[in-house]
Parts: sequence; structure tokens; C-alpha cells
Amino acid sequence: MAQIKEDKDILILGIESSCDETAASVVRGGREVLSNEISSQIDIHTLYGGVVPEIASRKHTERINQVIRAALGAADKTLDDIDAIAVTCGPGLVGALLVGVSAAKAISFAKDIPLIGVHHIEGHISANYIAAPDLEPPFLCLVVSGGHTHLVIVKDYGEYEILGRTQDDAAGEAFDKVARAIGLGYPGGPKIDRASREGNPDAMHFPRGHVGNAKYDFSFSGMKSAVLNYLNSEKMQGRAVNVPDVAASFQQSVVEVLVSHTMDAAAEYHCDKVALAGGVAANSALRKTMEEACRKTGRTFYCPPPVLCTDNAAMIACAGYYDYIRGIRSGLDLNAMPNLPLGQA
Ligand code: KG4
Ligand code: ZN
Repeated sequence: MAQIKEDKDILILGIESSCDETAASVVRGGREVLSNEISSQIDIHTLYGGVVPEIASRKHTERINQVIRAALGAADKTLDDIDAIAVTCGPGLVGALLVGVSAAKAISFAKDIPLIGVHHIEGHISANYIAAPDLEPPFLCLVVSGGHTHLVIVKDYGEYEILGRTQDDAAGEAFDKVARAIGLGYPGGPKIDRASREGNPDAMHFPRGHVGNAKYDFSFSGMKSAVLNYLNSEKMQGRAVNVPDVAASFQQSVVEVLVSHTMDAAAEYHCDKVALAGGVAANSALRKTMEEACRKTGRTFYCPPPVLCTDNAAMIACAGYYDYIRGIRSGLDLNAMPNLPLGQA
């Protein structure tokens, strides 16, 4: 007879391949990470100044099986112990997503293990459950990554109300583009974060990019263009650019907008818990400024450690767990969905 497991004993194998990290993880009971293997492709894409989709797909194909094997090994588990496989099915690069989805489907079919397609942003939000075992919805979450900028009320597990989103570039995309323009290279976010520590955030003033008709939406393209115009005009006049000052001033303008929108929404919607998620949540100035704003207004601040902010599969396994216990399953017709909207995995 099959062994009946308590929720806290349920083991989920998470798989993530939506962009440039091939990742697999085993998570017990939704929040206990037994293993978290991440094979990054950053070194390869750095040569081209950004992610090259075809190369990303090929590298995922080369690495996926060994990363899954490593995650099972590090957790001291085999596929026979796994209750469900959770895999990112969108949004992301279609060729990259397909590798994880195909691997998950193959294992699900061969070993008769339930399959769950997970939305990548839902994964990022769920990283907070791992970092803070006592955190329960509802809470307000700012999701800032290379591809997304969403201000979301997490009403319940799997239930989201999107208050605002970017109307042009994502926050991480703006970091990456500005870093390239000031010669810091790829990936831009961590490099701007580091360079800013030596710079003066008040050296230049870049526009804060408010969007008139939708108060919780974001716009970063004007801010990015202002930096590019500044660099051009300095060059035309033969003046050397102070890279740390530009980095720190740009970072401050992004952080100010992110924090002010989030705190305004927290006040309007009476949210006493505020969380950060996504790769840009690893930014030291954003973490510090949001934490201070929460402390001053008596709100509890949540933020995963940097390794759970950037892409990983533990967050996918965690999101998959909450789907699993609510009876949600995907069929073997699960497909990669590069433009999947939040709340529709
Ligand atoms: O969540 P993520 O790993 O991938 C996506 O889902 O897009 O986010 C990657 C993004 C990149 O744009 C990267 O530059 C940015 O997160 N990032 C940072 C930092 N670390 C990563 N941005 C600012 N400061 C950081 N410390
Ligand atoms: Zn991501």
C-alpha cells in the first residue's frame, strides 16, 4: 500500500531553465530546501554582452540532466522519493523553457510522477516563503527582475492582484543597459551595485520616470535615455565620466521610484507586510531603502537572501508545492509559454 505522507513530508523536485541558469532543487514541505543546484551560464553570455537565446537553449540541454542528478544526490533522494515535479513553463525564452519542460515531462511520464507547470514570477514571489517560514498571504510584493517589474498583492497562494507593472523596460533590463553604456559589462545589476558603493548618489539627477495615468506603473526608459544623453554630452565636451557617480545616481533614481510606489501602495491597500522578489531584489541599496521605509511606517519587511532572489529552482519547487496541495496538476501536453500572464500557469 502506498505510504500516506503528511504535507510537511512532501518532496517536490523543482526545475528552472527560463533564462540563463539551469537549476534543480529538492524542497520538503514547501519551505525546507534540501538541495539547490544552479549552473550559471553568465561566463558564456558575458562574451556577447547579454543572453544569446540559442546558446542558452544549447547549454540547458547539455546541463539539465546532470543538474537534476546533482540536486537529487545533494538531497540524498532518488526519483522514487519525489511526490511531484514542478517546472517553470513561462514566461521566459521559449527555447530555454522548452528544455526544462521537456525534461520534467520525460521524468513525469517515465516514473509516473505528477507534473506541475509553474509561473516564473510566482516562483520569485514564493522565494519569500522559503526565507521566512512564518510568512503567509496576504502581503504586498515588489517583483523586480531582468524581464519583469510587477507590484502585486498576494491575496492567497496562487491568487494575485497586479497593481502596477512597467510600461517599457524592466528594472533589471535598465540596470543591464546602463551598465553596458558606462562600460561595466554584463550582468549589469551586480556591477552597478558594486560600483555605486564608491560613488555619490547625488552627483547627478536623473528623471524618476513617473507614469501619469497609472500611479503604480513604472517607466525606466526615460531614466536610461537620460543617462545615455549625459554620457554623450560629456564625451562631446571631452570630459571623463565618473563611473561610480553615474552608477550611484542611476541606482538611486531606480530605487527611489521602486520604494515610493511600493510604500504608497502599502498605505493605500493597508498592507502591513511588504516583500521583495526577483534578481534586482539582490540590490543592496534597494534592500536597505525598502527595509528602512518599512521600519519607519511600522511594516514588516521580507526579502529572500540574494541566492534566492536571482533565478533558482527552490522557488519553483516551493510554488509547485502550494499548487500540489491544492490539487493542481499539469498534463503531459504542458508547453513552454514565453508570454504567460501571472496567475495563469
Ligand atoms: O530574476 P533574475 O535572475 O532573472 C529574470 O527572471 O530576469 O534577474 C536577473 C536580473 C538582471 O537584470 C540582473 O542585472 C539583475 O537581476 N540583478 C541585479 C542585482 N543582481 C542581479 N540588479 C541590481 N542589483 C543587483 N545586485
Ligand atoms: Zn527570474
